[in-house]
Amino acid sequence: MQEKIIILDFGSQTTQLIGRRVRELDTYCEIVPYNKFPYGDETVKGVILSGSPFSVYDEKAFKADLSQIRGKYPLLGICYGAQFIAYTNGGKVEPANTREYGRAHLTSFCQDNVLFKGVKENSQVWMSHGDTITAIPDNFKTIASTDKVAIGAYQIQDEQVWGVQFHPEVYHTEDGTQILKNFVVDICGCKQDWSPASFIESTVAELKEQLGNDKVVLALSGGVDSSVVAVLLNKAIGKNLTCVFVDHGLLRKNEFSNVLKDYECLGLNVIGVNASERFYKELIGVADPEKKRKIIGKGFIDVFDEEAHKLADVKWLAQGTIYPDIIESLSITGTVIKSHHNVGGLPEKMNLKLCEPLRLLFKDEVRRVGRELGMPEHLITRHPFPGPGLGVRILGDITPDKVRILQDADDIFIQGLRDWGLYDKVWQAGVILLPVQSVGVMGDERTYENAVALRAVTSTDAMTADWAHLPYEFLGKISNDIINKVKGVNRVTYDISSKPPATIEWE
Ligand code: XMP
Repeated sequence: MQEKIIILDFGSQTTQLIGRRVRELDTYCEIVPYNKFPYGDETVKGVILSGSPFSVYDEKAFKADLSQIRGKYPLLGICYGAQFIAYTNGGKVEPANTREYGRAHLTSFCQDNVLFKGVKENSQVWMSHGDTITAIPDNFKTIASTDKVAIGAYQIQDEQVWGVQFHPEVYHTEDGTQILKNFVVDICGCKQDWSPASFIESTVAELKEQLGNDKVVLALSGGVDSSVVAVLLNKAIGKNLTCVFVDHGLLRKNEFSNVLKDYECLGLNVIGVNASERFYKELIGVADPEKKRKIIGKGFIDVFDEEAHKLADVKWLAQGTIYPDIIESLSITGTVIKSHHNVGGLPEKMNLKLCEPLRLLFKDEVRRVGRELGMPEHLITRHPFPGPGLGVRILGDITPDKVRILQDADDIFIQGLRDWGLYDKVWQAGVILLPVQSVGVMGDERTYENAVALRAVTSTDAMTADWAHLPYEFLGKISNDIINKVKGVNRVTYDISSKPPATIEWE
């Protein structure tokens, strides 16, 4: 059985990061709402309490019952987690004089405490709280101080309970990974045996058991998540999986045929459906971004549903849902506040059981699993691409001619990024066709043609993004190539907006 660490979520923005850090230690973990501890799960090896937006003395503060957890498992409280343990045992937590945001240094710590094994003197830690522990109960021992707070960390004497007021999970805490490793490996005794290979082995076995001889249908998008699901399921149930890849006419240049070939090479049972004409027809004259999204989304569901109905006896719909989708869709009280369906509306419409084998993986883990499955690197490192595709990169109404212009310009940009070794340095890139014509001159002729904007951003999760500082020489070459080779474009601009306040896409 796969051993695990449980992270009790009190609502901090960094809870997911704790999960990622633990997984990076090749240790499986699950994030659960603070009041949903999986009592009776024999595979739990230790428990981490996250931070929280609340103060412990706040009326609305989340309170966990630790009576059946403390003493049974090693426990590490982080920030609010540490304050909660101290406060509920008779310690004092008060608003800090100076709010403790940002950098601090471990001025002293117990070298012989296992939590600090391998930690450097004066190591930088990251604080982010408006409260601080000012007094701890008698049976608590201070084991670290920072230049800002005296009780930087504590341990309850003769117990496997620790609290740290800083955040070991954030990158700015220099020895944060070491501290988490000390907890997870040395204290909880985890074997660090969670790996892509072990995930594949156990997931394939579970899928075989769960699905038996049932038939499964999956919508492929060309993106890494749905592609990895397809290869995993293919390994588990082979031809009982049917994949449907829909061309809505708004994919990149030649993407439909290229990706279809990739899928066929991977041995997948895949049906490619070219539905471009149908989408173009429904989009005639529609300029409003949300209306375009709705039409494309609904069209996609209809086409997929028609294809699925042609297959006999399908019982399951597989989706490439990943862990951040699930975590975001759970409120802290454990009720669903946002549906996480990748293809919004599909499960409701189709009345099929859902199969989501990646639901507990982070994005970087999905990529590692894909590599372990032997998938080609270009499928694994592919940039994110929006479901409505070029439909939200043609500002205003969509025509086949505009799609052709944008596909040609986008192809030059993306191929250029690859040729210049820049593709993997940016999170996402593409070209936007602007609803703007401008005057130009080509040879002896005056032109009045379209303007496009190049967009390339760096990011780690698409929540925030910076415009990519691409070399001028590269931008100059791309601009030249687009204007010379793409009929209908006579002006190229580069978008230098960051998110926030701008977004990655223009619509
Ligand atoms: P924004 O533009 O909100 O985009 O900064 C964040 C990420 O989401 C992608 N995106 C979409 N993906 N359907 C999708 O499947 C959509 O309607 C959609 N809109 C934006 C965007 O490409 C970026 O990766």
